[in-house]
Amino acid sequence: MTFNALWLTDPKIDKNSATLSAVDETTLAHLPVTLRVLYSSLNYKDALALRAKAPVIRQFPLIPGIDMIGEVIASESTQWPIGKLAVVTGWGIGEQYHGGLAEKFSAKAEWLTALPEEISALNAALIGTAGLTAMLAVLQLDQQGITPERGPIAVSGASGGVGSFSTWILAQLGYEVIAISGDRHAEEYLIKTLGARSILPRSELSESGKKLQAERWAGAIDCVGSHTLANLLAATQRNGTVVACGMAQGLELTTSVAPFILRSIRLVGVDSVYCEVAQRHAAWQRFAALLSRSSLPIPYQTIKLDQVMEFADRLLEGNVRGRIVVQTT
Ligand SMILES: NC(=O)c1ccc[n+]([C@@H]2O[C@H](COP(=O)([O-])OP(=O)(O)OC[C@H]3O[C@@H](n4cnc5c(N)ncnc54)[C@H](OP(=O)(O)O)[C@@H]3O)[C@@H](O)[C@H]2O)c1
Repeated sequence: MTFNALWLTDPKIDKNSATLSAVDETTLAHLPVTLRVLYSSLNYKDALALRAKAPVIRQFPLIPGIDMIGEVIASESTQWPIGKLAVVTGWGIGEQYHGGLAEKFSAKAEWLTALPEEISALNAALIGTAGLTAMLAVLQLDQQGITPERGPIAVSGASGGVGSFSTWILAQLGYEVIAISGDRHAEEYLIKTLGARSILPRSELSESGKKLQAERWAGAIDCVGSHTLANLLAATQRNGTVVACGMAQGLELTTSVAPFILRSIRLVGVDSVYCEVAQRHAAWQRFAALLSRSSLPIPYQTIKLDQVMEFADRLLEGNVRGRIVVQTT
């Protein structure tokens, strides 16, 4: 028996290394739970893997796809009966283990998170790694006592996947959001659709600045790293928290100890790939609570497995607005 999947072979050996193929079921690792994949999503990381633009894949051949939403069709786990819906993001799927860009998926029981009934399979795909990362960042602010009364929250890379979800979640929870964006056409999207209060041009934070600046926000969610992150730290109010999620501008961080020792600023990191099971549950439950009273405003396109390569190219060229949901069957 075979199933359809994106199939990646080693690009050093094989020029045409990413193809939609009929893959033999015996290829799947013998893990306790097998799922029929309903949806995956196409993330920037997947596009990098599919076009071999970065060393995302740690062993070949591999099925890419860091997000998977599916229905259990075979199980050796009493916790995961046949018919149950589950979401998997991270844990090395699509990097080290076969991922979600396929009709079938094989999982360890601990990778699976049950979908709360308020979240449809389609919405779970729309949320995916980007939404989970944003919610984990918001939970970090919450745990650090950064409530809406403390002051505004700055979100960098606000029109991107993690930034859009961060902006929307914070606005829904009553925070005043300052959206930092380089997209001059995103004003309506950031303010009217996502609920940001104001927009700050990306250029105001993207160059090296003073290591301590006038206090502007109680906290920040940073998706871009580099000088932007240093400037966010420098302008955070006393006892504030900055959550580092990404590196769209760069991996490096040049700052000083001044924000930490003169204003008690905290810098907290988020890793959605290997975050603890309890944190994942908390994040999906928070989405369930939000979706019981509002619908997701994040724009998306639904594509099929045979369109994945075309959309990976568009993602890498920066020609995609919103999320890409992959309907796998
Ligand atoms: N920590 C984790 O577990 C985790 C999980 C998922 C993603 N990430 C990382 O988080 C970051 C954002 O991911 P994403 O999925 O939201 O990506 P994305 O959709 O590509 O969004 C990134 C956004 O960053 C801004 N940006 C792009 N290039 C920039 C530059 N040179 N300088 C400043 N801003 C720039 C843009 O927003 P504007 O046009 O609005 O400025 C862009 O939309 C990436 O670095 C990704 O690797 C981390």
